[in-house]
Amino acid sequence: MKTLKVAMLGFGNAGQAFAEILLDKHETIKNTYGTDVRVTVIATGSRGCMVNPEGLDLSDALRAVREDGRFAYDHPDYWEDVYADSHCAGEPASVVLAREADYDVLLEMTPLQIFTGQPAITHLKTALERGKHAITANKGPIAWAFRELRDLAAEKGVKFYYETTVMDGTPIFNLVDETLRLCKVTEVHGILNTTTNFVLEELAKGIPYDEVMEEGRRRGFVEADPSMDIDGWDASAKLTALLNVLMGADITPMDVDREGIAEITEDDIRAALSRGNVIKLICHGKFEDAPEGGNAAERRVVATVKPVEVPKEQLLANIDGTSSVVSITTDLMGKLSIVEHNPEILQTGYGIFSDLLRLIVNL
Ligand SMILES: NC(=O)c1ccc[n+]([C@@H]2O[C@H](COP(=O)([O-])OP(=O)(O)OC[C@H]3O[C@@H](n4cnc5c(N)ncnc54)[C@H](OP(=O)(O)O)[C@@H]3O)[C@@H](O)[C@H]2O)c1
Repeated sequence: MKTLKVAMLGFGNAGQAFAEILLDKHETIKNTYGTDVRVTVIATGSRGCMVNPEGLDLSDALRAVREDGRFAYDHPDYWEDVYADSHCAGEPASVVLAREADYDVLLEMTPLQIFTGQPAITHLKTALERGKHAITANKGPIAWAFRELRDLAAEKGVKFYYETTVMDGTPIFNLVDETLRLCKVTEVHGILNTTTNFVLEELAKGIPYDEVMEEGRRRGFVEADPSMDIDGWDASAKLTALLNVLMGADITPMDVDREGIAEITEDDIRAALSRGNVIKLICHGKFEDAPEGGNAAERRVVATVKPVEVPKEQLLANIDGTSSVVSITTDLMGKLSIVEHNPEILQTGYGIFSDLLRLIVNL
């Protein structure tokens, strides 16, 4: 029986959903893959950190965070930051643990910092530099530093997976890597932001903007500050991640030609409907047209996020509510679309879990 030690940075919605699946499937993984998966590190931002090189009690960790709101200071596995007063003072505990703790694979599940990708990039680089495998649910690193992280993983001979970063556990990167071997992706379309999809749909029903936002907040689709969604930043980060991985784009969210939905009025929506169209916030990436006599292989990828009128009968027009879609155009398999229907947090947990299984299978 092999042992695989896991460090979890972040133990919020995604981390807890992953932990529940791991608890449920632990014996099956042992029986099917001959691997005993043990969580040796759990780091949070404000609820303490737990470390045990032999393996933590995951059920107890879930209970502590849910019932007590944090890990107990007097728990034998509670981690004291011995570096707090040393030359490393000021360094987040998560970075110290990524550098010092005993683990084989690091799971990055801390909150997205959309304009820098940090500190998640540092977490992943620290793990990869140590020759540890890494999995991220956080799209920041894929939007800001994909090439560097991928190359570092290759140099160190370790695995780096990121399926959950776009559309949760829906297999997109996996599909292209494992199933569509040697297919070249030439274009990507998608609807990737739930909030804007919901807002546009409700506006189309004639509900005023303020009421839509209030209802969205009540149902948890709309953040207290919705600008990251409404202004298209979240969609841009997801599109960037897709294009960096699938088309080798090497861009950041700043390179996306971005227009949000703040300027869309009820009149615009009604006018579109009268033409048989609906307005959707469409993410799109393609290679720029080759300059005459230029080298087609050197074409840049151009990325746009903007509201577009889509004919009602098309697939993209019928992606409702919290569902999302990615369509990829390829040289050998034409155009393929994959829809995620109204995901829950389970699908996020599964995305991380599926990357862990992919790692186990490929070790
Ligand atoms: N939720 C989803 O459906 C979903 C889907 C796909 C991808 N993702 C991505 O997955 C990541 C986690 O999402 P989430 O929904 O789980 O967020 P969340 O519920 O806010 O949880 C974030 C976790 O990270 C911890 N944390 C914050 N700063 C940290 C640091 N420096 N070091 C270690 N831990 C730190 C938080 O601790 P405290 O609570 O103590 O601050 C919390 O445990 C995000 O990048 C998100 O974009 C989420």
